[in-house]
Amino acid sequence: MGKVNVDWSSIGFSYRVISKRYVANYKDGKWDEGGLTDDANVTMNECAGVLQYCQECFEGLKAYTQKNGDIVTFRPDMNAKRMINSAKRLEMPPFPEEKFLEAVDEVVSANADWVPPYGTGASLYLRPYMFASGPVIGVKPSDEYQFRLFGTPVGPYFKGGAKPVTICVSDFDRAAPRGTGHIKGGLNYAMSLHAGVVAHANGFDENMFLDPQTRTYVEETGGANFLFVTKEGEVVTPASASILPSITRRSLVYLAENYLGLTVTQRPIRFDEVKDFAECGLCGTAAVISPVGRIVNHGEVIDLPSGMEKMGPITQKLYDTLTGIQLGTIEPPKGWIRKIK
Ligand code: PLP
Ligand code: COI
Repeated sequence: MGKVNVDWSSIGFSYRVISKRYVANYKDGKWDEGGLTDDANVTMNECAGVLQYCQECFEGLKAYTQKNGDIVTFRPDMNAKRMINSAKRLEMPPFPEEKFLEAVDEVVSANADWVPPYGTGASLYLRPYMFASGPVIGVKPSDEYQFRLFGTPVGPYFKGGAKPVTICVSDFDRAAPRGTGHIKGGLNYAMSLHAGVVAHANGFDENMFLDPQTRTYVEETGGANFLFVTKEGEVVTPASASILPSITRRSLVYLAENYLGLTVTQRPIRFDEVKDFAECGLCGTAAVISPVGRIVNHGEVIDLPSGMEKMGPITQKLYDTLTGIQLGTIEPPKGWIRKIK
């Protein structure tokens, strides 16, 4: 089948219904066989655990068309493992890694005509998620769950593409110490919505959240981890128990050290150090690496030396290496690329 007729270079980050999605159900203590469906709608009981107590978690990964025409996914095993951790923390039955990979392969294969062509800058964003579908009225875990996985073609997460963004330090906190910041539960995103709307209303692209206990250290944004570069060319990235362990960030750390010969330090980063950095980027599956040009904390304005026109030189090298691996122009580390067809 040929590609669908879409202007791939102008799509943003939004949802559109495509052909097939995967669904599996958990009942009587086990997951069923699972399989593809045409039905993009979910029907469930009014008292389902997800509707009452937000028992839900999700993942995000992408399928790419490589230069030689292969369709691949990037480190889907890492998403499977992280979803197992999220499920455990939320008292949900983990969806097995092998089944997760099978679901990814089946959805991408069945929607191959929706995977944007090489060179368009777009990709097929995949959204695995699972939720409590069985009824609960007392506060307790449900007995029944559904796992689903759909795809939607996407372009850049931020409107300007790879143009530097402006962010603000949020007055709200994203995750509590010893809470759920390190897992990918929808509840973390529900509570960030107000902070996001306020930031946008004030003209900012995103929030920088600080650690909620002391409001001294940099945590992350609503949907990406931070990566900074010092004036000496060292890559530094926040270590915190309450941020999501980004697969993109962990991949970039590996590439910085092993492909680019850079020094990387993962440590708590104080907000008052940020003014001394040379470059700043937001990294994640959706964000890839989106450069940050300006950070505003009420009256204090920090302009990164890399400016508002383009990414800094080290951020650019990291971006080129990561996307080169995803698009098949740079040899990947073993096991990072899963060929679908
Ligand atoms: N932090 C948050 C809060 C996110 O939602 C995401 C997106 O998944 C990330 C970081 C980046 O993680 P990853 O690189 O695994 O997509
Ligand atoms: C992702 O990057 O996959 C995410 O889940 C982030 C979200 C804000 C779109």
